[in-house]
Amino acid sequence: MQEFFEFGIGTRVLYKLGLANELGPVIDELGSQRVFIVADKGVVAAGLLAPVVEGLRDSAEIVGIFDSVPANSSVAKVMEGAEAAIAAQADLIIAIGGGSPLDTAKGIRIVLTNGGHLLDYQGYNVIPAPLTPMIAIPTTSGTGSEVTPFAVILDDDQDLKLSFASRYLVPDVAILDPLLTRSLPPGLTAATGMDALSHAIETFVSTENSPFSDGLALTAIDMIANNLRDAVQSGNDIDARGQMLIAACMAGMACANSYFGVIHALSHALGGKFHVHHGTANSIFMPVGMRFNSAVVPHRYVRIAHAMGVIAGGRSDSEVIADGISAVATLALDCGIPTRLRDVGVPEEALPELAEIAMVDGAIFHNPRIATEAELLEMLKETW
Ligand SMILES: [Fe+2]
Repeated sequence: MQEFFEFGIGTRVLYKLGLANELGPVIDELGSQRVFIVADKGVVAAGLLAPVVEGLRDSAEIVGIFDSVPANSSVAKVMEGAEAAIAAQADLIIAIGGGSPLDTAKGIRIVLTNGGHLLDYQGYNVIPAPLTPMIAIPTTSGTGSEVTPFAVILDDDQDLKLSFASRYLVPDVAILDPLLTRSLPPGLTAATGMDALSHAIETFVSTENSPFSDGLALTAIDMIANNLRDAVQSGNDIDARGQMLIAACMAGMACANSYFGVIHALSHALGGKFHVHHGTANSIFMPVGMRFNSAVVPHRYVRIAHAMGVIAGGRSDSEVIADGISAVATLALDCGIPTRLRDVGVPEEALPELAEIAMVDGAIFHNPRIATEAELLEMLKETW
């Protein structure tokens, strides 16, 4: 066990079917009046934004709707939103959507509160003071951004994913409403669900793990193993949707406190360079990352295997661990996610550069096993 750990959850989490359309009391408690909404076109097209806006009309003034956030939001897009929020004198940000709108909203809060340019605040604990309040309403079950102190924003000048980390970035309220995730198509349901699984697995083996995040991570793994297939195959299965939404939020709480590892480091490199969906990238790297790390913390991978539903049956730890890794790979296959880098448009000659980028990604610093650039390249080759 760690000699020192820290654990905290700064977000009030509310769960209820239909809750996103009843935000009045939550906004009253925050004492805000001027609401700026951040969303993406997919949320608008799925008809998710209109009822939320309608439900807000009696409780607050909507001073802006910024609904042009792309799948991989950029520094320029955040600055565009921040300028609009500043001009509108917003005092509450409501973000609705997947990781991209939620992280964009976090970036907008930084600039809205502190002024200047987003890039002034990049890095770890650079933000000087508490931010304008934020309500996060996830419409995917993946990032956990609704409860994390992180934002990942693409710097399109450098093709790099930039990380912002500060406890001030944690949203004030997370609204978990499974009805909003029903319209998510199978491919995105699968990829975002695998992202949540990678959060739970990486957190559980991270050098910063603690008994608090362990509990959240193991429960999330169990819930994802038992519900992701149903959510992918029958989008209207509201039980599976609800379980996935809760599991992703729990995994988010775990990684908010115990961070990531080699899988996310490789995935950030891939997302920055080739704009591969974050969840798909994590899914591709999960088996190889798990195999690499299981050499140093095998007992943790036995527990992951159990959470994935593997029965030990008197077999050796190494057999159980191998089955746990296979269970993750099989889940990805069953959900129809690409499993190789060549399937997502990555040319073989790009692998050395990806290894180089992953080597300095912040996520790798909490990996339980120190990886050399050559070992990262080996993992990339194995998944190509
Ligand atoms: Fe992630």
